[in-house]
Amino acid sequence: MKKINLSTEIEELLPEELSTMEKLLIDRAKEVSKRAYAPYSGFHVGAAVLLENGEILQSSNQENVSFPTGVCAERLLLGYAGANHPDSPPTMLAIVAQRAGEEIWAGVSPCGVCRQTINEVENRFEKPITMLILCSNGNVMRIKGIANLLPLKFDDLNS
Ligand code: THU
Repeated sequence: MKKINLSTEIEELLPEELSTMEKLLIDRAKEVSKRAYAPYSGFHVGAAVLLENGEILQSSNQENVSFPTGVCAERLLLGYAGANHPDSPPTMLAIVAQRAGEEIWAGVSPCGVCRQTINEVENRFEKPITMLILCSNGNVMRIKGIANLLPLKFDDLNS
């Protein structure tokens, strides 16, 4: 038997350590989270993506009474980006969340399906996506590339 140890890298930044663009993306994600449709979970998620052409797109999560039918903010956003801006790769993705009725920001981390979706977008454009995830303490986790969130990811039908 041999053991395989995998390592991933996540940076945690203080708010003042964020670049102007990183701050803007987090702000856009916060703004769009206010338009979440999340009557079942009460978990309002906002995502904002920066495309290579400088455009910023936003989405919130959109739920359904048939729970699995609901769509996460990131997945909806990346689907929209791919459908409408197929020539401009997503470069940076900010994700934030807030529970209904609360002022503070909740910790959030993309679900498995969204991680796989981010992986597909990276493969499609052959470019890693930097993810910014707002933590409940106000700091931001910066993750350069989905491999850091999805070790042993599935991306080859023939391997
Ligand atoms: N959700 C997202 O939109 N993104 C995430 O990263 C985590 C979870 C949504 C799905 C569902 O509408 C609600 O949050 C609770 O799981």
